[in-house]
Amino acid sequence: MNIVIIGQGAIGLLWYFKLSQQAHNNVSLRCSAKVTNLPERMTFTDSSQQSHQQIIAFASDEHLQQADLIIYCLKAYALEQAHLQYHPLFNQNATIIFSHNGLIDIKSFALPLKKNQANIAMLMTHGSLKTDHFNIMHTGEGHSDIGLIAGDISANKRSTLVKMLNEALPSVTWQQHIKEKQWIKLAINCVINPLTAIHNCDNGVIANVKFQQEIQAILQEVVMIARKHEVSLSLHDLTQTVCKVAQNTALNCSSMRSDIHAKRKTEIDHINGFVHQQGAIHNIPTPHNTALWQQIKKLASKNRC
Ligand code: PAF
Repeated sequence: MNIVIIGQGAIGLLWYFKLSQQAHNNVSLRCSAKVTNLPERMTFTDSSQQSHQQIIAFASDEHLQQADLIIYCLKAYALEQAHLQYHPLFNQNATIIFSHNGLIDIKSFALPLKKNQANIAMLMTHGSLKTDHFNIMHTGEGHSDIGLIAGDISANKRSTLVKMLNEALPSVTWQQHIKEKQWIKLAINCVINPLTAIHNCDNGVIANVKFQQEIQAILQEVVMIARKHEVSLSLHDLTQTVCKVAQNTALNCSSMRSDIHAKRKTEIDHINGFVHQQGAIHNIPTPHNTALWQQIKKLASKNRC
């Protein structure tokens, strides 16, 4: 299969390395134009601390035209611009996977969807840490859920895709109701990401009883907004899920906390900012998510001084 990974971050390089290990895949990597120093190889350190080298094939426009599968591994805020640039190059039969934090309505992108093209969301729980330029560490084995968000996919194409991804980086499950999973992931990110960044703590600290009241308040707002999108979530189940994720990733530094530390742009506008924006549209007050959105914006602007 001809595969192009777009994005040289921790998740993009994880998929690039794993898919390149399958002899039947022809994988290439499309980096941001800002990356000028392109090395010959990347280093991958697996979960048992073994390091591996992999030659990198960089994707040209021809690679994008011939790709059967394109996997976007970009931050939510970079996705629309990248899709505007690359989408005209994709062939009609290419399958497109979007992997990012936060919620995005790809149907609202300023581009018409190509007829029959499968647009798939991928939600991952793998831990991948970028330790240097083209150098990553697989810090935690996880799982990926994928499901159709727009367009069409035949049963045949779907099972080939799931099998191929599963062979490269298990486990991968096809989800018929990916929309609900996306809202659950959004809820997790609405709690763990801003709180770990504001309190400058590892994920595990968020499971502490002192955060429980605030967690309930944040999640209650997400539940109300999700209902407006025809997604019914249970506050009780969500609270338990958030605490479980915080405990399972106890020693991890969340992506938002890492972004703040590294003085990078955060995904807050697509996480708590998205809940705030939807609250304004549907006339539902979201004081807790709004406050977190503003606090992170303030923290990020201080960071730049
Ligand atoms: O963004 C992140 O860091 C992750 O999505 C999560 C689940 C909060 C774990 O760190």
